[in-house]
This record gives sequence, C-alpha cells and structure tokens, in this order.
Amino acid sequence: MHEKILILDFGGQYAHLIASRIRRMNVLAEIADPESIEISQIKKENIKGIILSGGPQSVFEPESPSCDKALFDLGIPILGICYGHQYITQALGGKVAPGHTGEFGRAELIHDKKCPLFENVPEKAVFWMNHVDEVGELAPGFVGCGSTTQCQHAAYWHPEKKIFSVQCHLEVSHSPYGNQVFKNFLEICGVSYDWTIEQFFEEEKKRLQSQVGNKNIFLFVSGGVDSSVAFGFLTKIFGPDRVKGLFVDTGLLRKNEVELVSKSLREIGADLTVLHEEDRFLEKLKGVADPEKKREIIGHAFLEVQHDFFTQHKLHDEWLLAQGTIYPDTIETGGTKHADKIKTHHNRAPEVQKLIDQGKIVEPLKELYKDEVRKLGEFLGLPHQLVWRHPFPGPGLGVRILCSDQKITESAAQDVNAFTLQKNRKPFVTLPVHSVGVQGDFRTYKHPAVLRLQSKNAPKDLEELEKLATKLINHYSEINRCLFLLDKNFSGDIRNISLNKKFVQKERVKTLQKADDIVTQTLHKMKVYDDVWQFPVVLIPVSFNNTGEESIVLRPIDSLDAMSASVGKLPWEFFGRVAAEILKDEKISAVFLDVTSKPPGTIEWE
Ligand code: XMP
Repeated sequence: MHEKILILDFGGQYAHLIASRIRRMNVLAEIADPESIEISQIKKENIKGIILSGGPQSVFEPESPSCDKALFDLGIPILGICYGHQYITQALGGKVAPGHTGEFGRAELIHDKKCPLFENVPEKAVFWMNHVDEVGELAPGFVGCGSTTQCQHAAYWHPEKKIFSVQCHLEVSHSPYGNQVFKNFLEICGVSYDWTIEQFFEEEKKRLQSQVGNKNIFLFVSGGVDSSVAFGFLTKIFGPDRVKGLFVDTGLLRKNEVELVSKSLREIGADLTVLHEEDRFLEKLKGVADPEKKREIIGHAFLEVQHDFFTQHKLHDEWLLAQGTIYPDTIETGGTKHADKIKTHHNRAPEVQKLIDQGKIVEPLKELYKDEVRKLGEFLGLPHQLVWRHPFPGPGLGVRILCSDQKITESAAQDVNAFTLQKNRKPFVTLPVHSVGVQGDFRTYKHPAVLRLQSKNAPKDLEELEKLATKLINHYSEINRCLFLLDKNFSGDIRNISLNKKFVQKERVKTLQKADDIVTQTLHKMKVYDDVWQFPVVLIPVSFNNTGEESIVLRPIDSLDAMSASVGKLPWEFFGRVAAEILKDEKISAVFLDVTSKPPGTIEWE
C-alpha cells in the first residue's frame, strides 16, 4: 500500500494545489472530505501525514467545516494552512479573533529558527496571505514560531504532538519558500518518496488488466492531452485490436486538427476512427447568437453523437467504455466551472451513467493531475506535440466565434489616445459586442475597451499594458476587458465601427482556423509555443472604416491552472508578425491584442 499524505479539503481550490505540490515531490497525496472521513479508515491506510487546507469560510460561521478531533491524537504529523490554522486553534482550546481589515497578498514572515518546519527557510521570508480572522491565543501546549507585522501567530507548533500550522498559503506560486516548507513537513513525516510515474504505470496496468479481463475497449478522443494519453496508455497495455478510439469532427476544430491528431495517435499504433459530424453541429448552430445557447447546443450535439453510436453499435457485453477523466474531475471540488459543465455532458451522459453503474467504464487517469498525465504521456513515448498541446475548450472554436443577430453602424465619438488620460474624456472606444469576465464571485457581460498605441512613448512592454488595463477596468465599470490595436497596417478612424450580423457558419470557421493557424505556426517558428499556457484566437463580427467584415483578437495566456491568468509575455515582434500575416486576409479589418488578466477577464471570450 502506497504511503500517502491525506489532505482534508476545507473548501475552495486550495486542496488541489497542495496535493499537486506534494505529488511533485514523489509522495502520493489524496484529498478527502474532513466531515466524512472516518478515523478507522485513516488507521487502515498507510497515512504518513495530514494537511488541513485553507477554505473560504470563517470558523465563526455556524456551518463552517470541521473534522473528528480524534485526528489530533493519532500521532500522525499534521500541518494546518490558513483556515486549517485557525481551525486547529479553535478545536484544541485556543482562541481565534475576528479580523477587521485582513491581510492580503505579500507578507514577510519572521520565524524563530527553532521549528523544523522552517529548516532552510531564511529567517525573514515572503509568503502569501489571504485572511481576515486570525489566531488570537494559542491552544495549550502550542508554541508560536513565526509572525508577520499584521499577524502575531502566523506560525505555531506542538513539538510532542508534531502538529504544525501556518496562516500563510504555502501552496501558491507567490510563496517562494512554500515548497521548502512542504519538503520539511514530508521529512518530519518520514516518507520514502515512492510515488513515481514508472511505478504508477506498473500498478495501474495490473489494476486495468484485472478490471478489463478479456473484454475490448472504446473511447471518444477529443484531441486534448487527457483523452490522448488515456488512449495511448490503454493501447500500450491491450494492443490496437482491443482498443478503438473515436474522434468526433464537430466542424469546430482547428485547422488540420483531425489529420494531426490521427497521425500522432496512429504513430503510436493506436486504432482511431473519425466520425464526420460537421454538418450536424453547424446545422444546429444556424441563426444562434447567444453564447450560452451555443454551448448548450454543442453539448447536446455531442450527446446525440454518443447516443447514436451506442444505438447503432449495440454494445455487447465484451465492450467497455474508457474516459480520460483526471483526478480533479473525480472528486467533487474539482475542475473549472466550465470544465465541470462540459464534463457533465461528456462523462456523465445518461448512457454513460448506465455503463458506470454496470462497472463498464474504464478511467485509467482518474488518480492523476494534468502534469502527471503529461509525464505519463512522455513515459509512454507519445509525440511531444500531443503531450504538450495547449488546452482547447470542449466546444472548440464554437466559443471563439462571436455572433450577432443585428447589424449596427456606429460612430463612437470618443477620444482614443490611451496616454493622455484627459479629464472627463474616456481614453478608449468600446466595442459593440459583449464578452465574459469574472469580477468578484460573478461572471460579468460587458463591453471590451479598445485603445490605440499612438504615442511614440507608448509602452510596448506587456506588463505595462496589463497594468494599464487593470487600472482602466477598475475605474470604468462599463468595461471588463482591454484590447490594444495592433495598428501597423491600420489606417483611418478607429471610432468608425460597424457590428455585422453573423452566426457560426462554415466560412467563418475557416477564417478563424486560418488566423489561429498563423498564430500556432508562428509560435512554433519563433520557438515560443511552450512559453504560453494557452492562446485563444477569437473572431468578432466587428469592422472599422467599412473595411473587411470581421476582426481578430489575440489572447496569449500565462497560467498554472486556469483559475487565474495573466497575459502571456511573448516578444513584441511576435504580435507584429502575426498581425501583418492575419491582415492579408481581406475579410479581416483589424487585429487586437487582449491584455486583460483573469480576473477581471476570463480566458475565453464567451
Ligand atoms: P475561462 O474562460 O473560464 O476558462 O477563464 C478557463 C479554462 O477552461 C477552458 N474552457 C472550457 N473548457 N468547455 C471546456 O472543456 C468549456 O465550455 C470551456 N470554457 C472554457 C478554457 O479554454 C480555459 O482553459
């Protein structure tokens, strides 16, 4: 039985970040619900340490999560983080004080050098804080070992019980010594670092062989990393005669996507069949402009394809269905909002649910995080370009083709000089389309602002542009995104805008595919593909000065987990090259660069 670190998930997405940090150190970490985990179950497993995660609630809230206090007497080392820090104090007889202003972001923690949790951490080190309440009085037997200017009991420990606790978020990348603290905790737990991809491969292979027996397997491949690796993994174990892949061409894929995915998978000897369903998807999207409606239509069309396949091929007992479900989707708190949505469609369709209930579903990646899936893909010898592809949304280009059911010709009489923020004059024009953003806990539907880099001194540094965007969006409530016109080839007045009546049509898909392909090719040519996490290219039905019919938005993204994002910092030259190439298409009126971070913008536009 593997050694494990158990993470009690007190809410939010923190538990996933903690687990993936620990796993990167070759120790298996699993997430459990603090309220339902049984002490008897913990005793049965080989648990070497327990981490109590952060969470959005306050310990003062009546419904705030808790766990069985017997946990603190098991003799297993414990580490509390943020909410976990306050919870341990409260549970063991100390006092939590309701906070007033809170402590957010960067803070310097000074530790007393006595606690082994801070071994090899400078006496004064930066950690990320995000709390309002704080520990006021330590529980009996505990000693303080670290503080910040605003938080006296930012770290404490109980030397005999081996309970350690910190107010700061060790798991975020903004805590540069967070990993060192985790490493120290693992040493205290006495783990033997036995979680490796090679070992996972061997163990999972045995488990799959026993689950599958002599049956055959089929799976729907999306071209994304997870389903491709699942397909490659199963093919490696059972061979192409027993594992069949189905790839749905929705007509909303990238240029040459079908060929690229088929070629890469066939290279590893996998057996892939392409189902051509372009007409079905495009027909259903005819005349639909509303983003949510489009998503719903695409989701349902996928279900129909699956349903038709199940009906036509009357699945016999010798077939099992495989899915590329990964760990964050397996447990309740996982995934992004949208990923949840699409995965409900794909992985939990009624026919699929029936198969799950009958034990006919094979999920070979359900224990892995994305980075582990990639490691497994490399271990299996899958082509680099398949393993390291940027994430692509389930509804494909369908959510990157903005539509409009009306035509408007508008002359926005606004000042467009970004760098003379004059009183009472807005420094931008707003586009007559809506895009999605996240501001606070809500999704927003607002207009994107467009600025023009006119002045010679205009910043070409993306970080500067991003800062300016944040400033403007925080100041003007009617916008949630900021675009810069890549204007080398733009002539005329940017205020002369038209919104054109357009839906998702074959021709528009082709226009976007062409622009998207220019971006991908240039990323490869300039050897910067791996420098960005994702790079949506968006088609908007907006034109300027009666030239062209559409415009293109470039959205380079830097992110770790899609929960937050900043602008992908590519060389400025990249954008000039790409824009000039895209503008050769006479349908395209202008090319913009979206420099909005998330929040306030989302990664995708719809
Ligand atoms: P947002 O736009 O919310 O996107 O910042 C976060 C991540 O999720 C992807 N995304 C989707 N993936 N179905 C998917 O499978 C969807 O409907 C969907 N919408 C967004 C997006 O590409 C980004 O990586």
